[in-house]
Amino acid sequence: MENKKIKREGAVIFSEYKRGDSINKLKEISRDDVLFELKESGLKGRGGAGFPTSTKWMLTAAAKSDKKYIICNADEGEPGTFKDRVLLTDYPELVFDGMVVGGFTIGAKEGIVYLRGEYEYMLADLELYLNNMRKDNLLGNNIAGIDGFNFDIRIQLGSGAYVCGEETALIESLEGHRGEARNRPPFPVNTGFMGHPTSVNNVETLSAVTHIVLKGGSWFRQYGTNKSTGSKLFSVSGDCEKPGVYELPWGTTISELLEKVEAKDTKAVQVGGASGICLNKEQFSRTLGYEDIATGGSIIVFNKDRDMIHVLKNFMEFFVEESCGQCTPCRIGNTKLLEGVEMIEKGEFTFRYINELKELGKTMQVASKCGLGQSSPNSFISILNNFSEEIFNQGNGGTNGK
Ligand SMILES: Cc1cc2nc3c(=O)[nH]c(=O)nc-3n(C[C@H](O)[C@H](O)[C@H](O)COP(=O)(O)O)c2cc1C
Ligand code: SF4
Repeated sequence: MENKKIKREGAVIFSEYKRGDSINKLKEISRDDVLFELKESGLKGRGGAGFPTSTKWMLTAAAKSDKKYIICNADEGEPGTFKDRVLLTDYPELVFDGMVVGGFTIGAKEGIVYLRGEYEYMLADLELYLNNMRKDNLLGNNIAGIDGFNFDIRIQLGSGAYVCGEETALIESLEGHRGEARNRPPFPVNTGFMGHPTSVNNVETLSAVTHIVLKGGSWFRQYGTNKSTGSKLFSVSGDCEKPGVYELPWGTTISELLEKVEAKDTKAVQVGGASGICLNKEQFSRTLGYEDIATGGSIIVFNKDRDMIHVLKNFMEFFVEESCGQCTPCRIGNTKLLEGVEMIEKGEFTFRYINELKELGKTMQVASKCGLGQSSPNSFISILNNFSEEIFNQGNGGTNGK
């Protein structure tokens, strides 16, 4: 049946799948077989960082401990992204079966879904779904008749901080602490939830695993490009006729995507949400993929009527609000970048100071403790560089123009 939320169903994530099929497949294959297929597939984590899933699972499987965990990162806090929501509400079989496969592969008995607080409305349906899985022996003891394979899933609600999507802050939050990023190393694959080896995986990553186990790594690899295998879900919003979730092969250009979503008079495309980069028209031939622009899948389209300094201010206010405050580069740096944007708005700046702020942004990218501060200057630098003509010719010439 046609799903109205999905604007384009591609050949990978939305290919045919029947609940339990990948779990039943585990009767015939070993953990090593799963790891082999994952490596063969070339799957990289879809949460944004792009770490190879086979390596993460291999490290967690190899870690020595009596307890291990697989966590589904359903925090989905990046502005402009909503594809995980659609997977959870309309394709829970892909997400949960992927978690069961993960439990089998790394040797975990418990899986936890860290569900974004704003998604509480889906909790009752998801719990019902898990209960049905238990009734059908797809969760619980000796799953699918596999002797000794005991695994269950529980759901825990987050409570609304963007940084809690970062995997170590997520684990802190799950443990009942304030959501703050941990020092790394040690990495969660060795010391994660309650100090035990833990694999944190994005909703879409787990959905891809479900298909790979059933259809094979080489099946997955035939889509996309050499370094960016498979397909990607894009959450498209903003100034276009057809916003929604699109499954497209990696390697798609921005222009091709704009055509599909029926965007007209597009001036700018923000790829990767607030923490991503903003492209101008001259850059629309660039491709989506690890060879060029890696992304978790948020695409925000801006047409010719949008004011780019206003767009930038909105992103910087978000980061000032969401910085957890633990480290100075991010806590103070984002405030300084926002002040710079406000100075530009008022026309009270010097180009020398703005250039210094761009340098500060580069320092934040290397000196911040976690990915939030490492990526928050991306919008600042790319919008000021790519839209300088518009921004600095709006009567905002600077106090002394230097
Ligand atoms: C500030 C911040 C927010 C993040 N939010 C999410 C999120 O909402 N969902 C997600 O899957 N990953 C998020 N990540 C990435 C996670 O830290 C982690 O890399 C990911 O969950 C790993 O799963 P994957 O390997 O399947 O991509 C975030 C990272 C940062 C720095
Ligand atoms: S980079 Fe920002 S969010 Fe991350 S630890 Fe530092 S202050 Fe907190």
